[in-house]
Amino acid sequence: MYREEEEFHTFRGYTQAQFERNKLSASMEDYLEMIYRLAEDEDFTRVNDVAGALNVQPPSVTRMIQRLAARDLLEYERYGVIVLTEEGREVGRYLLKRHNMLEEFFTRLGVQSRLLENVERIEHNLTPEAVNSLFMLVEFLRDNPQIQQLISDYQFERSASDESELTPGSGNSS
Ligand code: CO
Repeated sequence: MYREEEEFHTFRGYTQAQFERNKLSASMEDYLEMIYRLAEDEDFTRVNDVAGALNVQPPSVTRMIQRLAARDLLEYERYGVIVLTEEGREVGRYLLKRHNMLEEFFTRLGVQSRLLENVERIEHNLTPEAVNSLFMLVEFLRDNPQIQQLISDYQFERSASDESELTPGSGNSS
């Protein structure tokens, strides 16, 4: 119970100030998120594993690793071993939680196709405030299945009616 609250705080605790200070590019965020994912179990990962997971060439990973190391987010050791710093772990944890939250958000909204693509497209462009608000909404829906059901029912009814979907040109059809 307490632990959950603490994690929530950590998540919310990623402030606008921290966000501004770190200001990572979208691809830096993608790398750091993946490195955090891969390093979660063993506390480290390797250049080749990151390359495989992101479907890129090892030299691209090495270049990015150098940029992230310059920001003190990770340390690059011998034999392609990558170890996150305390700061890197904190930011990485935030990025992964944000990703997972957005995936759950879209899932709860009933989005079925190209889920990951949608997440990848918007995750880098939200402010921490917006992320926190969405995070709370997701938790609210998780904690209140009856509300979640109302949304699903509403969507079902709408999709059965005429004004079903907001597709281009659909507003003109009679
Ligand atoms: Co992501």
